[in-house]
Amino acid sequence: MAGWIPDEKLSEIRNASDIVEVISESVLLKRAGRNYVGLCPFHSEKTPSFTVSPEKQIFYCFGCGAGGNVFNFLMKHQGISFFEATRTLAQRYGVSLPEKTSASKRQGQRTPRERILEINRLAMEYYHRILLKDPKGEAAKSYLHGRGITDTVIEAFSLGYAPKGWDALALWLERKQIPRRAAFRSGLVIPRRKGGGGYDRFRDRIVFPIRDLSGQVVGFGGRVLDESLPKYINSPETPAFQKGRILFGLDRARKACRQRDSVMIVEGYFDVISLHQKGLQNAVAPLGTGVTDDHIRLLRGFARTFYLVFDPDAAGLRAMERIVPTLIRENVAARVVTLPEGKDPDTFVREKGAEAFSGLITHALPVMTFLIESAKRRHGLTPSGKSRIVSDLENVLASIDDPVNRSIFVKDVAEQVGIPEQALLERIRRARERGGPGRHRQRTTGKETHFQDAGQSAPALRLERKILSMMLQYPVMIEEIRKRGIVGRFTDPTLKAIGHWILEAEGTWEALIPELISRAKDTDTGETIAQLAAGEDSWNTEGCLKLIRQFEIHLERTERAALNTRIQAAQKEDDPVLLAALLKEKQRMIHRYTHPPREVMENAEKTEYSQKESERDS
Ligand code: GTP
Ligand code: MN
Repeated sequence: MAGWIPDEKLSEIRNASDIVEVISESVLLKRAGRNYVGLCPFHSEKTPSFTVSPEKQIFYCFGCGAGGNVFNFLMKHQGISFFEATRTLAQRYGVSLPEKTSASKRQGQRTPRERILEINRLAMEYYHRILLKDPKGEAAKSYLHGRGITDTVIEAFSLGYAPKGWDALALWLERKQIPRRAAFRSGLVIPRRKGGGGYDRFRDRIVFPIRDLSGQVVGFGGRVLDESLPKYINSPETPAFQKGRILFGLDRARKACRQRDSVMIVEGYFDVISLHQKGLQNAVAPLGTGVTDDHIRLLRGFARTFYLVFDPDAAGLRAMERIVPTLIRENVAARVVTLPEGKDPDTFVREKGAEAFSGLITHALPVMTFLIESAKRRHGLTPSGKSRIVSDLENVLASIDDPVNRSIFVKDVAEQVGIPEQALLERIRRARERGGPGRHRQRTTGKETHFQDAGQSAPALRLERKILSMMLQYPVMIEEIRKRGIVGRFTDPTLKAIGHWILEAEGTWEALIPELISRAKDTDTGETIAQLAAGEDSWNTEGCLKLIRQFEIHLERTERAALNTRIQAAQKEDDPVLLAALLKEKQRMIHRYTHPPREVMENAEKTEYSQKESERDS
């Protein structure tokens, strides 16, 4: 793995890191016995199957099979490279990385994402300096001041100004020795049709740096200073910038979201900034696009109540209807905040203050109630009005996959609109048929199937996996496994490799599992190790010995069957020499299977005793 970071450094970082601490920054975790559990950030679920083990320093999701050590979590959750995850953890836990690392880094070891992040950082500094220190930024600065934005907030959000002209940033980046192609890839400089040069994407605009959870600038939004169109433009999607997974302001809002256990989702950059300035720091905004399922899953890691502060116009309603099924599926308590006609959060909070805004929040309606109420207001409760209300709501109801949830909301709607539940159910059934069932079905496949196509027999695989789980969870048995040469007889190459790694491993058991995961070259193997280690089977020596015997008996049967086939063949061929040899082999085999080494059994019993002692002490 990552050849340029020495193994000792990796294990130093691994040992210094605390996986519970790292994961709980972005996932709400609850203690459950020896583990922590939470809603999986990698798939949709209502009940927590995402498990973090502080002892084993691994995470594993029993729902979707995602798993690994602390590095894998960061890579998967933030979409970053192994190297970035290493650097993040090293920084966080005060482990210094060798100089060589940054030198070779400069020689092009970085991923496209990292190069874009560096360019974005340079651009942010440039825009920010122009806004605050350059005469060119005066108009922009007074525009911001005119909208009540203070210098403190300008600093906090690193707001900037992209000057007029065509190539101010392009030239600046050239001066910073950024290759032109790299500048194009960041999306901040756009290639000209002729001549190979480029021009700036953001010109004469206020720029809002958009940061990911770790505070890195992944892209920008830019607003004009007047009424011209388009009002806003954003950086294009790049390897560093996926709009569906980024929310403006979340890097600064996450703490307040945790503290209040709620998040306010607003529409615009200015809304976020104004609310923050007024002390309502749990506000975030999507980037001009709608709220996605990924956004909801991401936010769910920070708060359990979501306040949707949308424009209640037709587009706003549709946007809301689209995410209702996800909100329900993810077990989010979603409420809708309605603002007075013609106000957005920014203008409202500036005119009326934070307390008035909090007042609106306390009167927010649950999202389903809100949809029912607004449909009622639109259509009225005449017979034809009711029919239209049902037409408005049937698709939302139909897209709720969980039948229990669906029936709860169906009942609600039927009651509040005053129609028979049965009639509503019939409409929903038809809507579901039209839309095709399971449009929103979630994936629940574990890694179980991963090994099934390798051509080994299913019982052998099951036993081999079970034995590895035992070695990882009940390490007193490792010696026994070694003595009996069990791993060498595994049929699955991946499981065999993992088994050998366990046998070869040195050092303490606590460090073993995360280290094994690091050794796995591919994610699948890493996830398999996490899965094998994650279970909470209650092992005891007797059960373990039984399992080992089962495996041996299974092998015995297979070997015997194979030998018998060969014996029959030898009989048919009339080959007495071969036949004698095979029969002798059969005798030896029978003897081996009926005489397990005695001292091995006794040792196992002793170790069981000492294991219990140590459990009691800890
Ligand atoms: P102000 O008008 O300055 O208060 O900004 P706002 O954030 O309130 O804008 P508005 O409510 O009109 O839009 C909300 C969000 O939609 C903005 O913050 C942008 O993210 C996005 N948006 C608005 N207009 C445009 C546009 O013309 N193009 C794109 N790409 N996004 C836009
Ligand atoms: Mn606005």
